[in-house]
Amino acid sequence: MREYLEHLIARDGVRVVEREVDPKFELAAVTVRSQAESDAPVLFRRVRGSSMPVVTNVYGSRRRLTELIGAEEGGFCARWQQLSIRQACAPDTIVPSRATDVPVRPTSLSSLPRITYFEKDAGPYLTAGIYLAKDPETGVPNLSFHRAMMVSDAELRVRLGRTHDLTAYHAKAEAKGEALECAILLGAPPPYVLAAAAPLAPWESEVELASKIAGHAVPMRRCRQIDLEVPTHCEIVVEGRILPNVLRPEAPFGEFQGYYVQQIQSHVFEVLGVTVRDDAWFHALVCGSSEDLRLLEVAIATQIYRALVARLPGVLDVACVPHVMGTVVKIRQQYEGHAQQVLLTAIGANHDWSKTCIVVDEDVDIDDFNDVWWAVLTRSRPDQRATILPNVPGFFRDPHKDHWGRLLIDATRPFDRQGEYERKRIPGADSLDLATYFGPDRLGKRR
Ligand SMILES: Cc1cc2nc3c(=O)[nH]c(=O)nc-3n(C[C@H](O)[C@H](O)[C@H](O)COP(=O)(O)O)c2cc1C
Repeated sequence: MREYLEHLIARDGVRVVEREVDPKFELAAVTVRSQAESDAPVLFRRVRGSSMPVVTNVYGSRRRLTELIGAEEGGFCARWQQLSIRQACAPDTIVPSRATDVPVRPTSLSSLPRITYFEKDAGPYLTAGIYLAKDPETGVPNLSFHRAMMVSDAELRVRLGRTHDLTAYHAKAEAKGEALECAILLGAPPPYVLAAAAPLAPWESEVELASKIAGHAVPMRRCRQIDLEVPTHCEIVVEGRILPNVLRPEAPFGEFQGYYVQQIQSHVFEVLGVTVRDDAWFHALVCGSSEDLRLLEVAIATQIYRALVARLPGVLDVACVPHVMGTVVKIRQQYEGHAQQVLLTAIGANHDWSKTCIVVDEDVDIDDFNDVWWAVLTRSRPDQRATILPNVPGFFRDPHKDHWGRLLIDATRPFDRQGEYERKRIPGADSLDLATYFGPDRLGKRR
């Protein structure tokens, strides 16, 4: 992560805060205010109570994520598909480790910044931790994000969603009465971050995907307390194990939907050791902010795209806007009714998300919900092209069924009259330099 940020700093793409900030609320407050006007990462050089610089919003930009995987603009999902196509992965295909020349030293959890994000949070949380663990039966490694409440130097409490591989690994270990060894990576190399967001099939290795994204074998080193290998360049590694048959209270916590999740019984991560690089940088992520939503979008959009292109022609891209609960698919229409088949396939690809699904033509900017909704309003009849599917379960953490049901909207041009829907354009409007008309002083001033 540090090398990537240094590269962004050299491009003048990082906002730097030199004054000291309070890890309780102030750091999160500055981050969300900065995100409202810029997608740049924010580097806090001095955070009270810790000697580590903290960086936020590293991944809060579609443009940067697209760049990181070597995709063309608008081609994130297609490039991701190229990177993740492979034969079923056997453990011996996992990237071999190389010698390390990055010194690390032991420290304690309390030397890390203790960041509290939202007013009613139960306490400080690690929000950008990537969990690396191996399937106790097959040895296939998995990477996934899980937030953790910081309880003491020896204990974190971790929320494991029921559909995730880490949850399944833990259940397998627990069935044998064993703890699941696990390393939490903070400030991992960017390919690890992208691979961790991806929900690959249980037999596929996200560690291997990380190397494909990096374009080379990611250098690895052995952990000190557990039998796992972690990326050499990771800023901070928390080594430990998720205990069997132990649950303890965790939360409230301000979650990605914009609300607090209430206290529940969560899993207990026993900390066995912490190692840091010299002058380590700490990655903090504000839940529900654009950084969180962009990473969740990587997971959801690529999974839906993968299911779509396996079955249907003409699928160009998928985005989750204006929130991760909403899916938008861009297609080049091939036949009458094509969009309806896309809608049905998209909502079948992932049962947690896609509360609404909208299909649009290739001339719509699916990263811009205003443009998507413009297509709904100008191309689609609500009485014929919108479908409500009642009583379909949605997001899993939903005891009151608030997320049941689906809304599907075909916002594509009527198939046999597409010519009538050519978007008008003014030649030169996109490329002219306004400063040469108004002068630079008059630009950017809105009333
Ligand atoms: C920043 C971030 C934080 C997340 N936090 C959690 C969490 O606390 N608990 C959880 O169950 N899933 C969480 N997720 C979702 C999973 O990490 C994600 O769906 C991942 O792809 C699961 O991978 P797996 O199915 O391969 O295990 C988070 C995702 C992101 C991007």
